[in-house]
Amino acid sequence: MSRETSLLIVCLGNICRSPMAEGALRARLEEAGLGHVRVDSAGTGDWHVGNPPDSRAIATAARHGVDISGLRARQLQADDYRRFDWMLAADLQNLRDVQARKPDGASARIDLLTRWAGVPADVGEGAIPDPYTGDREDFEHVWRMVDEVASAAVARLRRPIDA
Ligand code: 4NP
Repeated sequence: MSRETSLLIVCLGNICRSPMAEGALRARLEEAGLGHVRVDSAGTGDWHVGNPPDSRAIATAARHGVDISGLRARQLQADDYRRFDWMLAADLQNLRDVQARKPDGASARIDLLTRWAGVPADVGEGAIPDPYTGDREDFEHVWRMVDEVASAAVARLRRPIDA
């Protein structure tokens, strides 16, 4: 059993990047026999609470064989900081926001999603770019990034406990 068993992925709206990352991670973890790792996602903003992912995010995930249509957006909550082992931000602003809202008694560790997974930051310091005002290729780019994160996460979570 991995020491890291619960991950919360955080972006701004919880309708594009973090649900795509949640879907990719769940799929890769299941495939790898790591289905016990709990994965959830949330947004720092509240505009889309209760909504399904953006239709372009659903379509992109579906093109890659992953169904994220059943997910519903929610906003980051204070108790997330105790309920999850890791809170993993999609970009640097999301990271600053998660850090800034950290309540007393928080136990979760906080990092940038790509850095936590060990994906090299070739552009944008490892930030997953917001595709909301972009096009289909921007969503595909996000999918490639979150799928790479998901594969790297499997490798990380399989490593023996060494620290
Ligand atoms: P996400 O994308 O943070 O990847 O879910 C966005 C979704 C909605 C908005 C911004 C980014 N918005 O401004 O409503």
